[in-house]
Amino acid sequence: MTWIFGYGSLIWRPAFPYDTSRKAVIHGWRRRFWQASPDHRGVPDAPGRVVTLVEEAGVHCWGRAFLLPEADRDRIISDLDHREKNGYVQVAVDIEFDDAHTECGFTYVAGPTNPSFIGAAPIDEIVAQIATATGPSGSNVEYLLRLAKALDELEVYDEEVHGLRQALKHAVAE
Ligand code: SIN
Repeated sequence: MTWIFGYGSLIWRPAFPYDTSRKAVIHGWRRRFWQASPDHRGVPDAPGRVVTLVEEAGVHCWGRAFLLPEADRDRIISDLDHREKNGYVQVAVDIEFDDAHTECGFTYVAGPTNPSFIGAAPIDEIVAQIATATGPSGSNVEYLLRLAKALDELEVYDEEVHGLRQALKHAVAE
C-alpha cells in the first residue's frame, strides 16, 4: 500500500489516478511559502514562491493523502518525481487520518539546503512576489488562492496560507 501526503498543489491538482483520498495530518512539519519556483509559478529571472515543509517540534500540517493504485504506482511516482524536481525529495512520514488511524507514506519536501530554498521574508515582500510572478503552470496568485480554497474545503485553517491570502486581498484593494 502506498500513501502520498499532499500539502500544496497536490491537494488541488493531483493530476494522477488514485484509489482514494482522505483528509490527513502529519506532525512535526509546518507549511511555509519558502521555496522559490523558477519552473512552475515563476521563471528563473522572476521566480514565484511555493510551499514546502519545514521541520518544527510541536506543530502539525493538515493536507490530503492519496492511496495509489498498486498497478500504476511506479509510473505515478516517477511522474511526481519529475513534477517536484526543483529541490523536492521524498521524505517518509506517518500520515494520520481524521479518525486517528495512521499509515506510513511519503511526502515531497524541499529542504533548507536545496538551491531554491529562500526561507522567510517580511509578509509584504512575499505578497509582492506572489502578486507579480507567473510561470508555465500559471500565476503565483492562482497557486495561493487555489491552495487556500482547497484548505477551506478541507475545513483547515493555516496561518501561513490564509494570512497570505488576506494580505494579498488588502494589497490588491489598496
Ligand atoms: C505538495 O503539494 O505536496 C508539494 C508541493 C507542491 O507541489 O505545491
